Amino acid sequence: MRSLLEISNFSKDELKKLLETIELYANDSKNYPQIKSPVASLFYEDSTRTRVSFQLAALNLGMKYVNIDVANSSENKGETLIDSINTLHAMGIKGFIIRHKSPKLIHQLHDAIPSASFINAGSGMYAHPTQTLLDLTTIRQRVDNMVNAKIVIVGDIKHSRVASSLVTGLTLLGVTNIVCVAPSYFKPENATWQVDWQSNLNEALVGADVVVALRVQKERFHPEMKISLADYQKEYRLDVRHFSLTNPGAFLMHPGPINRDVEITSALADSEKSAILQQVKNGVFARMAILTHLLAI
Ligand code: CP
Repeated sequence: MRSLLEISNFSKDELKKLLETIELYANDSKNYPQIKSPVASLFYEDSTRTRVSFQLAALNLGMKYVNIDVANSSENKGETLIDSINTLHAMGIKGFIIRHKSPKLIHQLHDAIPSASFINAGSGMYAHPTQTLLDLTTIRQRVDNMVNAKIVIVGDIKHSRVASSLVTGLTLLGVTNIVCVAPSYFKPENATWQVDWQSNLNEALVGADVVVALRVQKERFHPEMKISLADYQKEYRLDVRHFSLTNPGAFLMHPGPINRDVEITSALADSEKSAILQQVKNGVFARMAILTHLLAI
């Protein structure tokens, strides 16, 4: 079966079609199909938005949703994850939503169990493709011609699966004016993305249409990384005043959870410039679209 392991699994046309399906679901609940197939989620990293939005998405589609409590599963008795998934698969579950710290574990699962469908709900620092679907939806809803928009991504890009998947998705759709702003310690070492790298936040924001802030991911810092958050905040924390440099209709996105007053001020997070809760809302429709795409057979 087909899986969603990373955003590049889609062609440009497939991605556009999926974004249209998301809009269809966002516009009217009468457009929701009903799917018989059950789906299971296994979250090995913390989550609020992704976990709950997948559950709501499945329920909106009439699917049975099984949330595996991984902290209390038979993996604690030595069962491998592949054996656990084969066990659930034998019970009739075809779709598996997985969040894990390993970048490519989900690829291994997909190769090992080809009769099941795997959906990446976040894989280490590598990929978060369903976040990209909701991010692209939010941009499309607010920007008239996304292909010509200037998208500025700010912050801890080094540890961000959100940034890498978003850049991949934007590039696939033909967006070329992507600016990544980070201090040297938050710049990925080997990124081959087609973006403009900058370190000066104010210069980068001039003419921006979309500003994407990222969470500072302390839990992924290498123990030897010595970072002064006070220095980071002085130079890179986004505030309402930064939007005097952008285009007038520019808005803020952030994947959440936010560290208030670390990467963005509370005033900005709660301002009319913020599209954060619109992103969250779109997350349910985005996950409905991917469940339909992969499991409505
Ligand atoms: N953006 C995101 O993945 O949020 P959660 O970690 O709460 O799922």
